[in-house]
Amino acid sequence: MPRIPALVDRDDFPLLARRIEDRPIVYLDSAATTLKPRPVIDAVLAFYRESCANIHRGDHTLSQEASAQFEQVRHDVARFLNALTSEIIFTSGTTESLNIVAGGLRLGPGDNVVASLADHHSNILPWMGRCETRFLPETADGVVDVERLAELVDDKTRLVAIGHVSNVTGAIQPVREAIRIAHARGVPVVVDAAQSVPHLPIDVVELGCDFLAFSAHKMLGPSGVGVLYVNEERAEQIATVKLGGGVPDHVRLDGFTLKDVPYRLEAGTPNIEGIFGLGAAVAYLRRIGMAKVAEHDAALSARMHALFADMPGLELLGPRDPARKLGIVSLVPTVPTLTPATLGRILSDSYKIMARTGTHCAHPFYASHGKPGALRLSSYVYTSEDDLELAARALQEILRQPGRVP
Ligand code: ALA
Repeated sequence: MPRIPALVDRDDFPLLARRIEDRPIVYLDSAATTLKPRPVIDAVLAFYRESCANIHRGDHTLSQEASAQFEQVRHDVARFLNALTSEIIFTSGTTESLNIVAGGLRLGPGDNVVASLADHHSNILPWMGRCETRFLPETADGVVDVERLAELVDDKTRLVAIGHVSNVTGAIQPVREAIRIAHARGVPVVVDAAQSVPHLPIDVVELGCDFLAFSAHKMLGPSGVGVLYVNEERAEQIATVKLGGGVPDHVRLDGFTLKDVPYRLEAGTPNIEGIFGLGAAVAYLRRIGMAKVAEHDAALSARMHALFADMPGLELLGPRDPARKLGIVSLVPTVPTLTPATLGRILSDSYKIMARTGTHCAHPFYASHGKPGALRLSSYVYTSEDDLELAARALQEILRQPGRVP
């Protein structure tokens, strides 16, 4: 088997040159946030250095330049997803995107939303905070049991909310089937694509979803920036909840009129530099090609399973078939003396391996599995097989210490 190198030039990522206590680091926490390549860092800094101005609020040259660049990013994101430019709303991240859908649909008592037990809190709480939330269970294979969707939907169901890829297990969920079933009952679907847009080619027309949400920081971009795609057919159903600058067409003393989407859903000065960073991230990913990103991810997923799925002292959560998931593994220590947090701490302190521990903002998932939490290793374009092997050797050493795995 040929070894799996990083898909990109690792020199593009300054943080990979960082040493802690004079040792190189291994970054395996990309599902939480990814590292940033130089073009993204440069795009953010260029705004401060060269074109710092507010957008859509000035006639001077700097404001005109910044406004044009801002709208160019909207256009580039639209092309990345095969959407219309007017269907792209900039937000502060997946959480805000999903809250715009929840607030915009004016969900309330008497309504229900069907979500899934595999989802993270961002794709549960916006619904649960407003109305009844019903949960799709998982199959024995560790994916959402979409066959159960029809029985959960009734005439009070306003929305089906489904995560495309589980942030805990990496499972790729049957979103197309969920969309087909929901649409057959006249119910719109929001896809939480926080973990899928960074890793898979996404075409919203082919997917057929009504809304889709993701964050820049999980796809090489800055934090505090996200996207909500709203299919133009659904735009009228999303009311403007957040009011402020940039939203009105005209304000009188006795009322106001609103602009069209996307602007009426983008109140206030946005994270302009962050959006420029997102533009650079999209350009970087487009240069590589999302088909190649997905291929690299699939190879890493297979290798992760070979290394970790049957490691004594660890239990893998989620699908056992690496082809049904992305390059993420969540591992529960079965050794009584080790908690996930201790394992993560030892990996960090003694091996400089960065991995996330805990319940990954997914309490219902862990409760339904009766697990206290896990150690999660997650990969991205700069991850190589060497990183995975270093983690595997470290875990074996830790688990083989006296009093642990016999
Ligand atoms: N949702 C992010 C994670 O999975 C923060 O770590």
